[in-house]
Amino acid sequence: MQKKEIAINVENLSKTYKNGVKAISGVSFFVNFGEIFGLLGPNGAGKSSTVRILSTLSNLSDGNAHIAGFNVSKSPTEVRLLMGYVAQSTGVDAWATGKENLLLQAQLERVPRKDINKRVSHLLEWVGLSSVSRKLVNTYSGGMKRRLEIAMGLVHEPKVLFLDEPSTGLDPESRRKLWNDLKYLQKQKKITVLLTTHYLEEADYLCDRIAIIDKGRVVTEGTPSELKSKISSDIVTLEIENEISIASNILKNLNGVNSTNIEGDRIVLQVTNGKKILPSLIIELQRKSIDVNSFSFNSPTLDDVYLKFTGHRFDQDI
Ligand SMILES: Nc1ncnc2c1ncn2[C@@H]1O[C@H](COP(=O)(O)OP(=O)(O)O)[C@@H](O)[C@H]1O
Ligand SMILES: [Mg+2]
Repeated sequence: MQKKEIAINVENLSKTYKNGVKAISGVSFFVNFGEIFGLLGPNGAGKSSTVRILSTLSNLSDGNAHIAGFNVSKSPTEVRLLMGYVAQSTGVDAWATGKENLLLQAQLERVPRKDINKRVSHLLEWVGLSSVSRKLVNTYSGGMKRRLEIAMGLVHEPKVLFLDEPSTGLDPESRRKLWNDLKYLQKQKKITVLLTTHYLEEADYLCDRIAIIDKGRVVTEGTPSELKSKISSDIVTLEIENEISIASNILKNLNGVNSTNIEGDRIVLQVTNGKKILPSLIIELQRKSIDVNSFSFNSPTLDDVYLKFTGHRFDQDI
C-alpha cells in the first residue's frame, strides 16, 4: 500500500507491446485528489496506453502505478471499484436508448438494485439528457453521445475518472459545455479526473496540472502557468517576403535572440525582451534587403512550451 492522499501515482511506467512497439518509456507523474490532471500529447505519444494500464485493462511492462494507494497490477479489483473509465471510442449501444445504456451499465457495475433508478435519473439530468433519455442513441449528436458515455463512467460513483480524449470530434460549443460539466463535477462531487487530450486549449483551460507527453516520455509537468513561465522569453513572429533562411541566420546571431524557428514563411523567435528588440530586428533585416511583411508579439503559450521541450511544434490536426 502507498500513501492514500495521492489519487494517482505513476512511477517509471513502461509498456512494450507484443509486436515490439515501445509505447511508454519510464513515465512518472502524480495526481492529487480533487484535481483535473491532463496528459497532453500528440497522436501516438502513449496517452491511451497509459490510461489503459491505470484502468487495469492492460498490463504494464515495467514500473508501477497506484490508484488511491492500490497497486494496479496487484489489486485490480479494488482499483476497478474506485475508478471509472471512458475510452477514446466506447461501447454505447446506438440501438438502445440513453436510459437503457445507463441502466445496463449500472447492472454491469453492480450498483445496488435499490439505487439504480434514482442514480440513472440523476445522471441523465446532470448531463442534460433527461428529455431525450427515451430516444435511441443513434439520434444523438456527438456531444450528447459523449456526455452519455461520461455518465456511464460515473454510474458506480467512482472517486477517480479516466477520460481518454473526451472532446475529440466535438464542435467548439459542445466542447465548452463538456469543460464546464467537468469543472462542475470536480467542484460538486470532488471527483479526481485524469484526462488525455491533444488540444492545447483544452489542457490550458480545464486542467489544474498537466504533464506533456511525447514519444512515450513526460517531457515537462506543472500547472499551465508554471509551464508557461518556464519560457523566460517573449515570442516574436515575423512574416518574411524573401530569403527566409538567410533572415533566420541573421536573427539567430543578434543579442537578445534566444532561438529561431522557421515555419513556412514565418520566423518564430524567442527573445529576451520582445518590445525592446523588435525594431532592431526589422532594421537589421532591412539593411540586408530582406522585407518583413508583418510581425506579431505574444506571451508564451503551451505550444511554445511544447516546442521548447520537444524541439518540434505541436500538431493538433494529426
Ligand atoms: N494494442 C497495441 N498493440 C501494438 N501497438 C500499439 C497498441 N496500442 C497502441 N500501440 C502503439 O503504441 C504507441 C502509442 O499509442 P497510444 O498509447 O495509442 O498513443 P496516444 O493515445 O497518445 O495516441 C503508438 O505507436 C501505437 O501505434
Ligand atoms: Mg489515444
